[in-house]
Amino acid sequence: MAIRQIRLKDDPILRKKSREVEVIDDRIRQIVEDMFETMYENEGIGLACVQVGILKRIVVIDMRDDDGKIVLINPKIIDQSEEKQIDMEGCLSIPNERGYVERPKSVTVEYTDLDGNTQTKTVTDYKAHCFCHELDHLDGVLYTDKVLNLTKEEIEKLENEK
Ligand code: NI
Repeated sequence: MAIRQIRLKDDPILRKKSREVEVIDDRIRQIVEDMFETMYENEGIGLACVQVGILKRIVVIDMRDDDGKIVLINPKIIDQSEEKQIDMEGCLSIPNERGYVERPKSVTVEYTDLDGNTQTKTVTDYKAHCFCHELDHLDGVLYTDKVLNLTKEEIEKLENEK
């Protein structure tokens, strides 16, 4: 296992589209292990493969909840709620910054697991935010592209609703 260097926001690789994983072999399993190790070291809840400089469609997530460690290979959103939610996001590639982003309240993702099986998973609330954020990375999109310019009053209202 190895902690890999996280690519930071001005690195052009973060703007590239990641490629599908064709075969899940030892190399892919090693990358996934390294991604988890790198994410935990940096106290993140999600990490996309491109953030460690490899253009593969792999995401790891661990929100320290009952789901535990989640590995999404070639994930795609196959359904999403019309209802939206606004919440605060950060990104390990953009340290010390945060911003409010609007995302669907709920998304259903189809993906391949580490054993090569196709799975679907529906997530809601902040976990839906996290999934959308990480999947965006695979297409070269950063949350800062979507960040809302809220007034102080709007932010207060949002925080009071929680
Ligand atoms: Ni991120």
